[in-house]
Amino acid sequence: PYVNTKDILDKANKGYYAVPALNINNLEFLQAIIEAGVEENSPVIIETSEGAIKYAGDGDVQRGASLFVSMVRAFADNTDIPVSLHVDHGKSFKILMAAIKAGYSSIMIDASEYPFEKNIEETKKMVEIAHSVGVSVEAELGRLVGIEDNVMVQSHEAALVDPNEAKQFVEETGVDFLAPAIGTSHGAFKFKGEAKLDFNRLKKVKELTGLPLVLHGASSVPEEVKKLAEKYGADFRGAKGVPSDILTESVKYGINKVNTDTDLRMAFIASLREYLANNPGEFDPRKYFKTPKELVKNIIRERLRLLGCSNKA
Ligand code: G3H
Ligand code: 13P
Ligand code: NA
Ligand code: ZN
Repeated sequence: PYVNTKDILDKANKGYYAVPALNINNLEFLQAIIEAGVEENSPVIIETSEGAIKYAGDGDVQRGASLFVSMVRAFADNTDIPVSLHVDHGKSFKILMAAIKAGYSSIMIDASEYPFEKNIEETKKMVEIAHSVGVSVEAELGRLVGIEDNVMVQSHEAALVDPNEAKQFVEETGVDFLAPAIGTSHGAFKFKGEAKLDFNRLKKVKELTGLPLVLHGASSVPEEVKKLAEKYGADFRGAKGVPSDILTESVKYGINKVNTDTDLRMAFIASLREYLANNPGEFDPRKYFKTPKELVKNIIRERLRLLGCSNKA
């Protein structure tokens, strides 16, 4: 069934496991996610960025949001696993309102680039609107600083979540889930040296808030996927994700939602490259999307097992 993200995450919080939130832009990734969830008997959270909503609606965000709700509901209503649909990194009031109106089950209001007080103010405003119609809300504290952002170690530290602020933020905003910045970043190039997250901050945020917590930038960039893509012409030199043992550890310290986009994109392109190289005469998308979809599904199944949400449907 189609459920509220809060149902999925409150259960994960009590059960000490995490559920991946998987980004989609089209039908094929959605099919892969639902199939993986069904095969693992696991809840799944589907999420769409603002860019995805614009892309699906060809610029018309109300149409894009409605299209995703219809598509996800059509699958969710016909399966026994819990499925929810979430707006990822919502920054535009217009897009968030379109998503709520369309029937999304939760939203993220991302005002994390603003000063603390303004982040509180913006988040609180969206919480009031969303809660009045039963939509749950995620917000972010701190900033996700990538290695490409070229910041000094000191300012890198300053970009991470302040646990005392997290407590105040949660009390004043009434937000349902919190994404604390603890050292990850988006995309395929997360760490230059050793992968390291600030688990002390994470533990404190959990202690002080008790909320379901969200890890953004959680892709692993699996070595076998990277190798397959590079064998067929991709250039992913320097790509590095969050190793799976660090993901497991972050779940142990309180993460319940694991945002994953890059790994799905990389798996899809790796398999598509391989297929096209081996089938130069093929031009039917139903055929050349088949093995990429299969690989995306398998990557998700592995992740569901790793995070402990298999058989939690
Ligand atoms: O937060 C980033 C997600 O991976 C979505 O990225 O804006 O390219 O759709 P996007
Ligand atoms: P990745 O780029 O690591 O997949 O992170 C996705 C994300 O955080 C979406 O909000
Ligand atoms: Na999100
Ligand atoms: Zn993110």
